[in-house]
Amino acid sequence: MKAIGVTPMQANSAHLVELDKPTPAVGEALVRIIRVGIDGTDKDINEGKYGQAPPGYDFLVNGHESLGVVEQVGEGVTDWQVGDYAVATVRRPDECPNCLLGESDMCLWGNYTERGIKGRHGYLTEYYVEKPDFMLHVPKEMADLAVLMEPTSVAEKGIAQAYRIQERLYWQPKNAIVTGAGTLGLLATFLLRARGLDVYTMARTPMPYLNGQLAEASGAHYVNNKEQSLTALAKQIGNVDFIFEATGASQLIFEAMAIIGNDGVLCLAGLSSSSNTLQIPADAINMELVLGNKLIFGTVNANRRYFQSALQDLANIEQKWPGLLGRLFTHRIQGLDNFAAAFAALEDKSSIKVTVEISPQPQ
Ligand SMILES: NC(=O)c1ccc[n+]([C@@H]2O[C@H](COP(=O)([O-])OP(=O)(O)OC[C@H]3O[C@@H](n4cnc5c(N)ncnc54)[C@H](OP(=O)(O)O)[C@@H]3O)[C@@H](O)[C@H]2O)c1
Ligand SMILES: [Zn+2]
Repeated sequence: MKAIGVTPMQANSAHLVELDKPTPAVGEALVRIIRVGIDGTDKDINEGKYGQAPPGYDFLVNGHESLGVVEQVGEGVTDWQVGDYAVATVRRPDECPNCLLGESDMCLWGNYTERGIKGRHGYLTEYYVEKPDFMLHVPKEMADLAVLMEPTSVAEKGIAQAYRIQERLYWQPKNAIVTGAGTLGLLATFLLRARGLDVYTMARTPMPYLNGQLAEASGAHYVNNKEQSLTALAKQIGNVDFIFEATGASQLIFEAMAIIGNDGVLCLAGLSSSSNTLQIPADAINMELVLGNKLIFGTVNANRRYFQSALQDLANIEQKWPGLLGRLFTHRIQGLDNFAAAFAALEDKSSIKVTVEISPQPQ
């Protein structure tokens, strides 16, 4: 079967590779892949910034956002049937205390593997085999949107963790700023809007801009930070209760640290992949953080629970704003052979969610 492999740490190395079609062992299911979403992580890996091949291979199959359909079940698999839609998670645990508890997204030792990223082949291929522990059932009516479960799970985790940590005090946030209006920023925007917050979504591109229009279609306000800075926005809003950071732009991140309101939270999800240094008003930031009981935390990846809540929330968002999530799918590339077009689509300023359509979706 075909797959798209990259040679880790080598720029622009994506190429077609041939793998044996896997057969499910006892306790595994064989899944035919329908489509795969690709994102900045796949782009970074193809730019040679990170990525690790599985043991015994000199390439890594990309892709960590998938939707598939079960084609065969191995002995001992009871809760999956041929024809079921499946989404599989990304991270596979090591044996650290958190991984043993099913919280591999909180891995302590860092010896986890990740499909399509670190030491384990991903989903840009035709089939995979997996254990049900790492698979989620998708109802037929959600199949069109299910490839969004992975990126949504990242936003789900960050937001759920903020509420959980804030159980340390009375916290009923009324407003939120989402920095970044890419796939992650928009999904965080929709989740926060669905919770009823007044949301301001920020990026540098001026309107008219599809990403800004989608944020506004959910009732959020789109702010172009070239016209209104984060600091100016905070003055307009008043006490800033929550910031979900989805740019990785360090200048903006430190500006965010300085403007969080009292009892406010800054959730850092964006990754900074350059080696920028900055001059910052460190004393003033620390003083405000301490005196205002402010919280800053990082969040990476998501475990099965957040994939499950992502599925529920995607259904909820679809009900609240019909068709909105579908508008995230800006580029559908047909077939693995067209992988170059898929990576090119990621470079296109007008792209939000790029998918590679691998096999037909059952009707
Ligand atoms: N923590 C995790 O587990 C996890 C998982 C997935 C992704 N990520 C990271 O999360 C971030 C967002 O992911 P994504 O897929 O949504 O990426 P993306 O599509 O590249 O979106 C980035 C967004 O940030 C905006 N932006 C960039 N620099 C900015 C600046 N200085 N000021 C204001 N806006 C700025 C961009 O819009 P303009 O160009 O218009 O400014 C764009 O809307 C990335 O850093 C990604 O690596 C983290
Ligand atoms: Zn671990």
